Amino acid sequence: MKFTYYGHSCFLIETGGKKFLFDPFISGNELAAGIDVNSIEADVILVSHAHADHIADLVAIAKRTNALVVSNWEIIVWAQQQGITNVHPMNLGPARFSFGKMHYLPAAHSSSLPDGTYGGNPGGFLFHDTERKFYYTGDTCLTMDMQLVPQYAALDFAIMPIGGNFTMDADDALIAAGFIGCNKIIGVHFDTFGYIRIDHDAVKEKFRTAGKDLILPGIGETIEL
Ligand code: NI
Ligand code: MN
Repeated sequence: MKFTYYGHSCFLIETGGKKFLFDPFISGNELAAGIDVNSIEADVILVSHAHADHIADLVAIAKRTNALVVSNWEIIVWAQQQGITNVHPMNLGPARFSFGKMHYLPAAHSSSLPDGTYGGNPGGFLFHDTERKFYYTGDTCLTMDMQLVPQYAALDFAIMPIGGNFTMDADDALIAAGFIGCNKIIGVHFDTFGYIRIDHDAVKEKFRTAGKDLILPGIGETIEL
Protein backbone atom coordinates (compact mmCIF):
# COMPACT_ATOMS: atom_id res chain seq x y z
CA MET A 1 0.00 0.00 0.00
CA LYS A 2 1.33 3.39 -1.01
CA PHE A 3 0.66 6.77 0.60
CA THR A 4 1.53 9.92 -1.36
CA TYR A 5 1.26 13.32 0.31
CA TYR A 6 0.11 16.38 -1.66
CA GLY A 7 0.21 18.80 1.28
CA HIS A 8 -2.29 19.94 3.94
CA SER A 9 -4.88 17.12 4.19
CA CYS A 10 -4.61 15.93 0.60
CA PHE A 11 -3.14 12.48 0.00
CA LEU A 12 -3.44 9.48 -2.29
CA ILE A 13 -3.69 5.93 -1.02
CA GLU A 14 -3.11 3.11 -3.49
CA THR A 15 -4.45 -0.26 -2.41
CA GLY A 16 -6.19 -3.22 -4.05
CA GLY A 17 -5.38 -1.83 -7.50
CA LYS A 18 -7.31 1.40 -6.84
CA LYS A 19 -6.22 4.98 -6.24
CA PHE A 20 -8.07 6.77 -3.44
CA LEU A 21 -7.58 10.54 -3.33
CA PHE A 22 -8.59 12.38 -0.14
CA ASP A 23 -9.53 16.04 0.33
CA PRO A 24 -8.12 17.58 -2.86
CA PHE A 25 -6.59 20.97 -2.04
CA ILE A 26 -3.37 21.69 -3.88
CA SER A 27 -3.58 24.76 -6.09
CA GLY A 28 -4.38 27.10 -3.18
CA ASN A 29 -1.50 25.76 -1.08
CA GLU A 30 1.75 27.69 -1.51
CA LEU A 31 3.69 24.83 0.08
CA ALA A 32 2.41 22.46 -2.63
CA ALA A 33 3.50 24.66 -5.55
CA GLY A 34 5.72 21.81 -6.77
CA ILE A 35 2.75 19.46 -7.27
CA ASP A 36 1.18 19.35 -10.74
CA VAL A 37 -2.56 19.07 -10.04
CA ASN A 38 -3.19 17.93 -13.61
CA SER A 39 -0.97 14.87 -13.18
CA ILE A 40 -2.87 13.46 -10.19
CA GLU A 41 -4.79 10.30 -10.98
CA ALA A 42 -7.69 8.91 -8.99
CA ASP A 43 -10.31 6.16 -9.16
CA VAL A 44 -12.15 7.38 -6.07
CA ILE A 45 -12.12 10.85 -4.46
CA LEU A 46 -13.24 11.09 -0.82
CA VAL A 47 -14.22 14.43 0.69
CA SER A 48 -14.34 14.68 4.49
CA HIS A 49 -16.13 18.04 4.66
CA ALA A 50 -16.90 21.11 2.60
CA HIS A 51 -14.24 23.65 3.61
CA ALA A 52 -12.18 25.12 0.76
CA ASP A 53 -8.93 23.69 2.15
CA HIS A 54 -10.41 20.22 1.45
CA ILE A 55 -12.29 20.65 -1.82
CA ALA A 56 -10.63 23.46 -3.80
CA ASP A 57 -9.43 21.13 -6.59
CA LEU A 58 -12.30 18.63 -6.35
CA VAL A 59 -14.30 19.73 -9.39
CA ALA A 60 -11.31 19.95 -11.75
CA ILE A 61 -9.79 16.59 -10.73
CA ALA A 62 -13.16 14.79 -10.68
CA LYS A 63 -14.06 16.04 -14.16
CA ARG A 64 -10.65 15.18 -15.63
CA THR A 65 -10.38 11.70 -14.08
CA ASN A 66 -14.09 10.79 -13.88
CA ALA A 67 -13.26 9.32 -10.46
CA LEU A 68 -16.14 8.26 -8.20
CA VAL A 69 -16.72 11.10 -5.70
CA VAL A 70 -17.74 9.92 -2.23
CA SER A 71 -18.96 12.30 0.46
CA ASN A 72 -21.97 13.29 2.48
CA TRP A 73 -25.32 14.02 0.83
CA GLU A 74 -25.00 17.80 0.87
CA ILE A 75 -21.51 17.91 -0.67
CA ILE A 76 -22.54 15.44 -3.38
CA VAL A 77 -25.62 17.51 -4.30
CA TRP A 78 -23.32 20.55 -4.62
CA ALA A 79 -20.80 18.53 -6.68
CA GLN A 80 -23.57 17.48 -9.07
CA GLN A 81 -24.52 21.15 -9.48
CA GLN A 82 -20.88 21.74 -10.55
CA GLY A 83 -21.29 19.10 -13.28
CA ILE A 84 -19.80 16.06 -11.53
CA THR A 85 -21.80 12.95 -12.46
CA ASN A 86 -19.92 9.94 -11.02
CA VAL A 87 -20.95 10.17 -7.37
CA HIS A 88 -21.86 8.14 -4.30
CA PRO A 89 -23.65 10.14 -1.59
CA MET A 90 -23.78 8.75 1.94
CA ASN A 91 -24.24 9.96 5.46
CA LEU A 92 -22.61 9.12 8.77
CA GLY A 93 -22.37 5.34 9.14
CA PRO A 94 -21.54 2.40 6.86
CA ALA A 95 -21.89 2.06 3.10
CA ARG A 96 -20.93 -0.64 0.59
CA PHE A 97 -18.72 -0.03 -2.42
CA SER A 98 -17.02 -2.19 -5.05
CA PHE A 99 -13.88 -1.91 -2.90
CA GLY A 100 -15.65 -3.05 0.28
CA LYS A 101 -17.57 -1.66 3.20
CA MET A 102 -16.48 1.71 4.59
CA HIS A 103 -17.67 3.90 7.45
CA TYR A 104 -18.06 7.67 7.36
CA LEU A 105 -17.59 8.54 11.03
CA PRO A 106 -18.48 11.81 12.76
CA ALA A 107 -15.96 14.61 13.13
CA ALA A 108 -16.52 17.45 15.58
CA HIS A 109 -15.92 20.43 13.28
CA SER A 110 -18.02 22.49 10.84
CA SER A 111 -18.73 22.20 7.13
CA SER A 112 -19.79 25.00 4.81
CA LEU A 113 -19.30 25.18 1.05
CA PRO A 114 -17.35 28.01 -0.64
CA ASP A 115 -20.63 29.77 -1.56
CA GLY A 116 -21.77 29.61 2.06
CA THR A 117 -24.30 26.80 1.66
CA TYR A 118 -24.53 24.07 4.26
CA GLY A 119 -22.00 21.29 3.71
CA GLY A 120 -23.60 18.58 5.84
CA ASN A 121 -21.99 16.94 8.85
CA PRO A 122 -18.19 16.77 8.70
CA GLY A 123 -16.69 13.29 8.97
CA GLY A 124 -13.77 10.95 8.48
CA PHE A 125 -13.35 7.66 6.64
CA LEU A 126 -12.68 4.26 8.19
CA PHE A 127 -11.45 1.63 5.73
CA HIS A 128 -11.77 -1.74 7.44
CA ASP A 129 -12.59 -4.01 4.52
CA THR A 130 -9.36 -3.44 2.60
CA GLU A 131 -6.07 -5.34 2.77
CA ARG A 132 -4.68 -2.66 5.11
CA LYS A 133 -7.04 -1.07 7.60
CA PHE A 134 -6.83 2.66 8.13
CA TYR A 135 -8.76 5.65 9.42
CA TYR A 136 -8.61 9.26 8.25
CA THR A 137 -10.34 11.33 10.92
CA GLY A 138 -10.86 14.47 8.81
CA ASP A 139 -10.76 17.84 10.57
CA THR A 140 -11.89 17.22 14.12
CA CYS A 141 -11.14 17.82 17.75
CA LEU A 142 -10.57 14.84 20.02
CA THR A 143 -13.88 12.98 20.53
CA MET A 144 -15.06 10.08 22.66
CA ASP A 145 -16.58 8.58 19.46
CA MET A 146 -13.05 7.62 18.43
CA GLN A 147 -13.21 4.90 21.09
CA LEU A 148 -15.64 3.02 18.81
CA VAL A 149 -13.03 2.51 16.09
CA PRO A 150 -11.41 -0.63 17.63
CA GLN A 151 -14.87 -2.27 17.43
CA TYR A 152 -14.51 -2.24 13.64
CA ALA A 153 -10.84 -2.85 12.99
CA ALA A 154 -7.34 -3.33 14.32
CA LEU A 155 -5.85 -0.44 12.37
CA ASP A 156 -2.58 -0.61 10.48
CA PHE A 157 -2.26 3.17 10.45
CA ALA A 158 -4.29 6.35 10.82
CA ILE A 159 -4.15 9.84 9.32
CA MET A 160 -4.94 12.74 11.64
CA PRO A 161 -4.72 16.52 11.73
CA ILE A 162 -2.06 17.68 14.18
CA GLY A 163 -1.77 21.43 13.55
CA GLY A 164 -4.15 22.58 16.29
CA ASN A 165 -6.20 25.80 16.22
CA PHE A 166 -8.85 24.37 13.80
CA THR A 167 -8.37 20.69 14.73
CA MET A 168 -6.52 18.43 17.16
CA ASP A 169 -2.92 19.29 17.93
CA ALA A 170 -0.22 16.66 18.51
CA ASP A 171 -1.15 16.26 22.21
CA ASP A 172 -4.76 15.51 21.33
CA ALA A 173 -3.75 13.31 18.40
CA LEU A 174 -1.67 11.24 20.80
CA ILE A 175 -4.74 10.66 22.99
CA ALA A 176 -6.76 9.91 19.84
CA ALA A 177 -4.15 7.32 18.79
CA GLY A 178 -4.81 5.59 22.12
CA PHE A 179 -8.60 5.78 21.62
CA ILE A 180 -8.42 4.17 18.18
CA GLY A 181 -5.75 1.64 19.24
CA CYS A 182 -3.20 2.61 16.61
CA ASN A 183 0.57 3.11 16.98
CA LYS A 184 1.35 4.44 13.52
CA ILE A 185 -0.01 7.92 12.84
CA ILE A 186 0.51 10.06 9.74
CA GLY A 187 0.15 13.73 10.65
CA VAL A 188 -1.61 16.13 8.26
CA HIS A 189 -3.17 19.64 8.43
CA PHE A 190 0.03 21.32 9.67
CA ASP A 191 2.29 24.19 8.50
CA THR A 192 -0.04 25.34 5.67
CA PHE A 193 -1.08 28.53 7.49
CA GLY A 194 0.49 30.52 10.33
CA TYR A 195 -2.10 29.29 12.81
CA ILE A 196 -1.11 25.65 12.32
CA ARG A 197 2.69 25.82 12.12
CA ILE A 198 4.35 23.16 14.28
CA ASP A 199 7.78 22.10 15.54
CA HIS A 200 8.34 18.81 13.70
CA ASP A 201 11.06 17.43 15.98
CA ALA A 202 9.12 18.26 19.15
CA VAL A 203 5.90 16.55 18.07
CA LYS A 204 7.71 13.48 16.76
CA GLU A 205 9.59 13.20 20.05
CA LYS A 206 6.29 13.44 21.95
CA PHE A 207 4.98 10.40 20.07
CA ARG A 208 8.27 8.49 20.36
CA THR A 209 8.27 8.99 24.14
CA ALA A 210 4.75 7.52 24.25
CA GLY A 211 5.86 4.47 22.24
CA LYS A 212 4.08 5.59 19.08
CA ASP A 213 5.28 6.57 15.63
CA LEU A 214 4.34 9.94 14.11
CA ILE A 215 5.14 10.27 10.41
CA LEU A 216 5.24 13.79 8.96
CA PRO A 217 5.42 13.18 5.22
CA GLY A 218 7.11 15.62 2.88
CA ILE A 219 4.94 17.16 0.17
CA GLY A 220 5.27 15.00 -2.92
CA GLU A 221 6.72 12.12 -0.89
CA THR A 222 5.45 8.56 -1.31
CA ILE A 223 5.61 6.19 1.65
CA GLU A 224 5.24 2.42 1.42
CA LEU A 225 3.05 1.20 4.31
NI1 NI B 1 -12.23 22.29 8.00
MN1 MN C 1 -9.22 22.10 7.19
